[in-house]
Amino acid sequence: MDKASTDSYPDRFMWGVSTAAYQIEGAVTEDGRGPSVWDTFCAEPGKVADGGSGAVACDHYHRYREDVALMRELGVDAYRFSIAWPRVVPGGTGEVNAAGLDFYDRLVDELCEAGITPVPTLFHWDTPQALEDRGGWLVRDTAYHFADYAASVAGRLGDRIDQWITINEPREVTLLGYALGVHAPGRTGMFEALPAAHHQLLGHGLAVQALRSAGAGQVGIAVSHSPTWSAGPGAEDTEAAAAFDTLNNWLFADPLLTGAYPADFAELMPVQDGDLAAIGARLDWYGVNYYGPTRVGAGSGESDEVDGVPVPEGLPFSFPPIEDVPQTGFGWPVVPGGLTEMLLTLRERYGDRLPPVMITENGCSYADAPDAAGRILDRRRIDYLDAHLAAMRDAMDKGVDVHGYFLWSLLDNFEWAAGFEQRFGLVHVDYESQARTPKESFHWYARHIAGSRG
Ligand code: FCB
Repeated sequence: MDKASTDSYPDRFMWGVSTAAYQIEGAVTEDGRGPSVWDTFCAEPGKVADGGSGAVACDHYHRYREDVALMRELGVDAYRFSIAWPRVVPGGTGEVNAAGLDFYDRLVDELCEAGITPVPTLFHWDTPQALEDRGGWLVRDTAYHFADYAASVAGRLGDRIDQWITINEPREVTLLGYALGVHAPGRTGMFEALPAAHHQLLGHGLAVQALRSAGAGQVGIAVSHSPTWSAGPGAEDTEAAAAFDTLNNWLFADPLLTGAYPADFAELMPVQDGDLAAIGARLDWYGVNYYGPTRVGAGSGESDEVDGVPVPEGLPFSFPPIEDVPQTGFGWPVVPGGLTEMLLTLRERYGDRLPPVMITENGCSYADAPDAAGRILDRRRIDYLDAHLAAMRDAMDKGVDVHGYFLWSLLDNFEWAAGFEQRFGLVHVDYESQARTPKESFHWYARHIAGSRG
């Protein structure tokens, strides 16, 4: 029996699926695309678990018609995909590559014909390598180059696109990419990574202006959020957890939703006049990516890994595992109630300054393979989705205004430093043949969407 009832979703609740360019497109040298930081990172031995890369991935660049047909079968209202900056501006700045935009033009037309609303993200981690060579997000100019690129994309696709997402997960890019170096661009600057957070947020703010001047209807951002749970009741643990919570959640959400950095960080950020007004400009909706909570305590050295990310020595935090809950194939704890908690916390912290929320990502990896009959019975994914949708509904019943849910992900795909080992898709991909096979969860989600429409 499903937990997540399909009745009484608000009218026009938006059902969708999410993907990202580097994780599915492949075709990294076609039609004038320039290299991105992820091409460079994957080429370095030892950086990606199985030595994989996005060079071919799901070959979506050539198979997008088949993938749109799958979405049509699924019955989603909307598709969240990302546009590869290095396809559109191969050098990061300067000349716009019309052939790169042509691909998105074809994709958007295909979506519109299928009655699916395109919701592009302009930056999902694939910074043009040429810009990284000049400092990437550590330097302020990158924010301006990003806004120029946003304007170019809006100029070409804006006639068919009403909803935009500027950037995806500035926290991951800052912490995993620039502080810890486990993601591209592989820099290990620790606290010196902070300017990368500010410049991404500034890039977001400038892109919001560029998109609105080009006539955009609705603009949002996708931010990852994770409730932070103290390891114990003592003051040392609760203080450590509060400090980590600031770094993990409020460093990004506060400037976006209140126009100010948390006090502990304000002095550390390279803020110039006008930046915070741009960053804090009212959004049409706020995107939340949710995968699970984080347990944090004082002290260090007790845990060498959290959610698959190595914890460097010398940090004033420990990350005891969350026990007694199931885990996904990635080892991430399955805690649906954390989604309710996170949404209620956002609502409480920001009140009316919180615009309507979109769940821009939520999903799980399990390595279920086809059985003898070729079916993929991914019961654990169905249970996960059912429980998380019920948790989202719970937050909605308690007053959080959620306008849509985008499941991560349509297809199994290239999961960054974890390579192809982690499968998040509703659709199984055989990377040898590129055959797509809808899993049982695909049919479950299709029924849930259909049921919600009565
Ligand atoms: C998020 C990323 C997305 C995907 C999921 C599993 O952090 O935005 O690209 O990798 O995790």
